[in-house]
Amino acid sequence: MKVAILHQDLEWGEREIARQLQQKGFTVNLFDVRTTSLEDLTQTEELPSLVLNRVYASVANRDYRDNIKILDLLLSLERLGIPCMNSYYTSQFDYSKFKAAKRLKEEGVSTPETLYVGCLNTETKDRITGFIKKYGFPLIVKRDMGGRGKDLQRIENEQSLYTFLENKFSPTAQHEYAGGFVVQEFLKPTRPFDCRLAVFDGEFAFSYGRTLISRVNNGDAPWLASVKLGSRMINYDPTPEEVALAISASNAIGAIFNEVDMTQTEKGPAIIENNPTPNYDETEIDRVAKAVDLIEKTYCTTEAILR
Ligand SMILES: Nc1ncnc2c1ncn2[C@@H]1O[C@H](COP(=O)(O)OP(=O)(O)O)[C@@H](O)[C@H]1O
Ligand SMILES: [Mg+2]
Repeated sequence: MKVAILHQDLEWGEREIARQLQQKGFTVNLFDVRTTSLEDLTQTEELPSLVLNRVYASVANRDYRDNIKILDLLLSLERLGIPCMNSYYTSQFDYSKFKAAKRLKEEGVSTPETLYVGCLNTETKDRITGFIKKYGFPLIVKRDMGGRGKDLQRIENEQSLYTFLENKFSPTAQHEYAGGFVVQEFLKPTRPFDCRLAVFDGEFAFSYGRTLISRVNNGDAPWLASVKLGSRMINYDPTPEEVALAISASNAIGAIFNEVDMTQTEKGPAIIENNPTPNYDETEIDRVAKAVDLIEKTYCTTEAILR
């Protein structure tokens, strides 16, 4: 079976996925999104049986045009009947925090209230004012498309919010990233850690927790989970309510493969983010092995081929 892996910068995770797939007997070809066309993927003797999209949402931190290109490629590949993991449909939600929040709300899945801000004008300022009136401070502001905490801020007052947005919508900043931002209700965690639950094909697969940190040392209670910025990974077994929420979130975005970040609030667990394209580091061979097993089970068994 032939698997095409789409990537941008080749990180350890993609190389490890390729290595483990090859070990299982798959033929694997790597394609850099920046130099790959639909023809490169399809004008071959044998079409790929599966295209793995490993272009992270955080690729947008470097060049969001590659994420846009991926969506186009996935759509065309699926039109040709080639299965993609994750699909065009799911990847859209991976690449837009606003679309994801809207979709989860439609399905009644708990997640922060989210406002999309695509530019600053009288109309968007009015909407921001309305949002502030309703949800107050602190608020979270972050890139609609992106990841790894890039341009993510906890905002304490209106002036800081506008200073931040005016800066991000300046011509210089727009040259680097011309996508939108989201303003989000701040979910105050009631525990000193968050949790990540993996959902594979509608079922709970594994979980762990991440200790929370404060981004600025201003005496605030820790609120941010980021291993890169100092959160520790801890063992955590989720409650049935958390498992049900992670499954609902994955179903809402049609993800066969998803790692869901959630936080515990006074009103119960809430989804912070879906990660259908999570990244891996050298210590996580087992996590990659689980993903590779899922790929094999989903796309290579007789049952999978017949469905
Ligand atoms: N609305 C929010 N309320 C509280 N904490 C948040 C909120 N949004 C993000 N965070 C914190 O910031 C972290 C990173 O945010 P996330 O939306 O996952 O962005 P990224 O794509 O950069 O990982 C989350 O894991 C969470 O700890
Ligand atoms: Mg995240």
